[in-house]
Amino acid sequence: MQIFIFDTPEAASRAAGEYVNAEIRKNPKLVLGLATGSTPLGLYKEMAEACKAGLDYSQVRSFNLDEYYGLQPDHPQSYRRFMNENLFDHLNIDKANTRVPDGTAADPAAFCAEYEAAMKAAGGVDIQVLGIGSDGHIGFNEPGSSLVSRTRVVALTPQTISDNARFFEKADDVPRKAISMGVGTIMEAKTCLMLCFGANKATAVQGMIEGGITQFNPASILQMHPDTRVYLDEAAASKLTLKDYYKWAGSCGL
Ligand code: GLP
Repeated sequence: MQIFIFDTPEAASRAAGEYVNAEIRKNPKLVLGLATGSTPLGLYKEMAEACKAGLDYSQVRSFNLDEYYGLQPDHPQSYRRFMNENLFDHLNIDKANTRVPDGTAADPAAFCAEYEAAMKAAGGVDIQVLGIGSDGHIGFNEPGSSLVSRTRVVALTPQTISDNARFFEKADDVPRKAISMGVGTIMEAKTCLMLCFGANKATAVQGMIEGGITQFNPASILQMHPDTRVYLDEAAASKLTLKDYYKWAGSCGL
């Protein structure tokens, strides 16, 4: 794991954006794994600005981590709609090459198998963008998820439902289930790019980086990933025992 600590979420998003955009310059056919939530919005702004300034996204392909189960793609809170509005509509990407799990799939197991096969056929995910839930979840892999799980239907925890209720009229409107890439699926990405901002993530972040590897904090498996880049703001980094060392290593160019 490489840990990068910034004064603000804006500075962290800029650095993450520079990384992603540079990788797309090197490989215009890059396969991105994408995440929703408020955290990656700054990164998506950086990508949109680079595209406006001439970076070509027309051959980039993408696979999103997850989608609420039961929401139509045009539902205001669906992750398909979120991705269109916050990223895809601002890139010259071919929407046919952007995949978000289908929350309306009549046969979810068949859908999940096809989604995994499509990722493989694309050559696998090159860069997987990730955020973390306040309980350590990645995608919608809640605590207790198998660390080798694959794309499947999952049940959201009451904590996640309450965290995400702010986007819905009331907590009762938040779907109870989702389709999510599994932890094992995420681990196959060549690079994982994890963004975590804010004090409410500090405990999960500490567990992810410095705790034991455990399904009680699914993000902790990233300690076993060969190329994970973690972008934190000061608040999310505030509970790290070795925070000063990570900053020192950063100042040494590592
Ligand atoms: C949802 C998503 C996760 C995301 C998390 C954090 O649960 N499924 O992928 O990381 O929200 O959201 P936020 O970035 O708004 O804190």
